[in-house]
Amino acid sequence: MKVSVETPATIANLGCGFDSFGLALPLYNIITVEETIMPGSGIEINILNNDSDNIPHDKNNIVFKAIELLYNYIGQAPTELKINIKTEIPVARGLGSSASVITGGLIAANELLGHPADEEVLLSIATEIEGHPDNITPAVTGGVTISALEDTGSITYRKLPWPLDWKIIVGIPDFELTTDISRSILPQNVPIQDAAFNLRRAAMFVEAVHTKDEELMKLALTDKLHQPYRMKLVPGLNSIMENLKHTEGVLGCVLAGAGPSIAVISNGKNMNEIKEIVQTTWNNININAKIHTWSVAQRGARIL
Ligand code: HSE
Repeated sequence: MKVSVETPATIANLGCGFDSFGLALPLYNIITVEETIMPGSGIEINILNNDSDNIPHDKNNIVFKAIELLYNYIGQAPTELKINIKTEIPVARGLGSSASVITGGLIAANELLGHPADEEVLLSIATEIEGHPDNITPAVTGGVTISALEDTGSITYRKLPWPLDWKIIVGIPDFELTTDISRSILPQNVPIQDAAFNLRRAAMFVEAVHTKDEELMKLALTDKLHQPYRMKLVPGLNSIMENLKHTEGVLGCVLAGAGPSIAVISNGKNMNEIKEIVQTTWNNININAKIHTWSVAQRGARIL
C-alpha cells in the first residue's frame, strides 16, 4: 500500500510574527510513502527532482526522521519503507520546503498506519523535527495561522480570516540561504523596546486581518526582532523595502521566513508595478529572481 500527500509552501514570520505567524502558498511538494513487503529491503529514499544534491538519502533525511518518530509513538520502528519526495518548492529560500516534506511524510505514514495520530500529535511531531511551528501549521491547515509551541511540546494555533483580495507577491532570488545560517546571525537577547515594538505590531496584524484594515496592516508589517539582523544576508532587501514604501497597493514588504525570498503583501491592486520594482531592484545588483503573485492557499496538506 502507498499513500501520496501534497503539501503547500509556506511563508513564516510575516514581519512582526517571528516564529509565530505563517501562511500557505499554492506551490506544492508531493511525498509518497510506501510500505514495501519485501523483508530486508530497508529504507529507500528518492528525491525526484534535479535539485537534490544536498538532501540526505539515508536515515538522516528529515522526512524519515519524522516518520520514525510517528512509528515510535505507536511503539514500533519503520523497517521497510520507500519514500519518494517530488519537490516544486525551492530549498533554502524561506518558503517552508522542509516543513512541507516533513508534514507530507508524516500525514502519508499516518494514513498507512491507520490514523494512530490526530492533528495535535502530528503537529507536535513535525515541530519537534522542524524546531518551530510557524511553517508547520499552515502547511497542515492552509490559510494564515498564528501558532505557539507550548512547554509540553503541543502546538496551540488559530487560523486567521485573511481577506481574499490581499495577494502575496513573492520574489525568489537565485541564491540560497539556510535557516541555520540565518538563525545564527540573530542575537540571544533583544532590547526590551524592540520586544515591545513587535508585541504592538503583532496585535495590530491580527486586528488588521480581522477588520480588513489596510492602514493598520501597513503599520503592522514591520519588525525589529529578526529582519534588521538578517539584512546583511539578503542583498537588495533594504532597497526593495525602500523602493516599495510609497507604491500604491503595497501593505508591506517582509522577509519570507528566514529568507532570502521576499514577500510583498498587497491589497491586490497595482501588482505589475510591484513585481517590476522587486525585479529591477534585484537586477540592478546582478541578482536574478523569479517573481510570482499568489493568493493565500486556503487548503493545507491533502492526501491524493
Ligand atoms: N521562524 C523561522 C525563522 C522560520 O525565522 O528562523 C524559518 O524556518
